[in-house]
Amino acid sequence: MKITVRVWRQANPSAEGQMVSYELDDVSEHMSFLEMLDVLNERLTVTGEEPIAFDSDCREGICGMCGIVINGLAHGPERTTTCQLHMRSFNDGDVIDIEPWRSGTFPVVKDLVVDRGAFDRIIQAGGFISAPTGSAVEANNIPVPKENADHAFEAATCIGCGACVAACPNGSAMLFTAAKITHLGLLPQGQAERDSRVLGMVEQHDAEGFGGCTNIGECTAACPKGIPLSTISRLNRDLLGALAKGKA
Ligand code: SF4
Ligand code: FES
Repeated sequence: MKITVRVWRQANPSAEGQMVSYELDDVSEHMSFLEMLDVLNERLTVTGEEPIAFDSDCREGICGMCGIVINGLAHGPERTTTCQLHMRSFNDGDVIDIEPWRSGTFPVVKDLVVDRGAFDRIIQAGGFISAPTGSAVEANNIPVPKENADHAFEAATCIGCGACVAACPNGSAMLFTAAKITHLGLLPQGQAERDSRVLGMVEQHDAEGFGGCTNIGECTAACPKGIPLSTISRLNRDLLGALAKGKA
């Protein structure tokens, strides 16, 4: 296929960025989207130009590193991660716009790479449990109702990619935060810190400058793991419960 990509190029966080066009005339439909960028980068390197900076690690949809905006959609036209997107989703002659996540809370580091440290700080504010060190407890010693286990697992599939923030008109990270709170709040091991977790993580979410949730739903539509909006309802219930206890 012949493909034209228009890529956001920005040398550093304070530099002015711009879209730059590149033509590719030998794109296989079997290439992943990132392999297409690899081929372009090899060509740029050979011709002495600066290769395009983009993030990736696992390239199998589990690490959450590879998010970019493709033709205005977080992770592109399929409901999957950018690394799991293939060029067969595009047509010969297509012009594809490629941009970094657009969010003030994810500042551009270079080209398509953004700083998602705000997510790390939300996790640090409560996305963990305290457990004694030593060998792991035998799993069946702690029974978990099947329904809770299923919902906790569903929430645990959040890979922290940030597509929910990039897609949200409010720039909210509520879906990410709610996934972490739901995951731990439904398990027995997560009960001891349940109140402090939701208070701390929501406070950090707001302190980072993420917007509030107004139930638009773009987040869940863009989420490659299908994290449902019901996790945000759980977050709200936990938050109101924790606030009520604080006032009691
Ligand atoms: S909720 Fe979905 S879109 Fe948001 S960070 Fe987690 S996996 Fe990515
Ligand atoms: S590179 Fe790990 S999810 Fe895409």
